[in-house]
Amino acid sequence: MYLWSISPKNPPKQLTGYLSGHSYLWPMRIDILTVLPELLESPFQHSIMKRAQDKGLLEVVTHPLRKWAVNDYGQIDDYQYGGGAGMVMMCEPLAKAIEELSAERKYDEIIYLTPDGEQLNQKIANSLSLKGNLLMICGHYKGIDERIRQHFVTKEISIGDYVLSGGELAAAVLVDTIGRLLPGVLNDETSALFDSFQDNLLAPPVYTRPEDFRGWKVPDILMSGDHKKIDEWRLEQSIERTKQRRPDLEI
Ligand code: 6GU
Repeated sequence: MYLWSISPKNPPKQLTGYLSGHSYLWPMRIDILTVLPELLESPFQHSIMKRAQDKGLLEVVTHPLRKWAVNDYGQIDDYQYGGGAGMVMMCEPLAKAIEELSAERKYDEIIYLTPDGEQLNQKIANSLSLKGNLLMICGHYKGIDERIRQHFVTKEISIGDYVLSGGELAAAVLVDTIGRLLPGVLNDETSALFDSFQDNLLAPPVYTRPEDFRGWKVPDILMSGDHKKIDEWRLEQSIERTKQRRPDLEI
């Protein structure tokens, strides 16, 4: 299942998008709250994320959380009640930051990136790509004070069952997977349709020149010029790959 019926013959129309709740008239806006804005400088300045922003389809703004620090030392974390190693990100800087940013625009979701969140998948990315404004909060240390999660955060997302040093790399992953789905971002609008995981299928193998590399040949079918057969072969390969590598995916 794909959320838009995109094809070169059926380009997304602004009005259609607007009526279906997603406005193509404005870029998607993603604000990111982080103690390490430097970590998020490069990921959005290249390739598809750069193009999305250059085309005015996506706007990503990082905000250094220390701007809302509780004192002149830039403090944003403190020891945890009950004892134990590791600092906790304090309520006040986060609450002030969220409130200040929320006064400028209404967020469709306030997302906290955390290893105990819902695990990111293509379905979540598809649905977030239909939103207008997202605020992402990158956790550090032991995480953020539970009260911020309860009173401000609307969605908690993890990018997998392993621990990262902070939420920044996870936010970069999330922005990338959402950004590439925005109508007009990919050159060939149909290409996202055939990504792995759309339809819960892994992508088929791909080949390019030369036809014979060290005696390793490209499958004949791809050289046949018979596009119907090629499509059938690709689908078979996708199904076979998915069964072998990801039997957990329901196809
Ligand atoms: Cl969102 N944050 C951190 N710190 N670690 C993670 C993660 C997020 N997702 C997987 N591991």
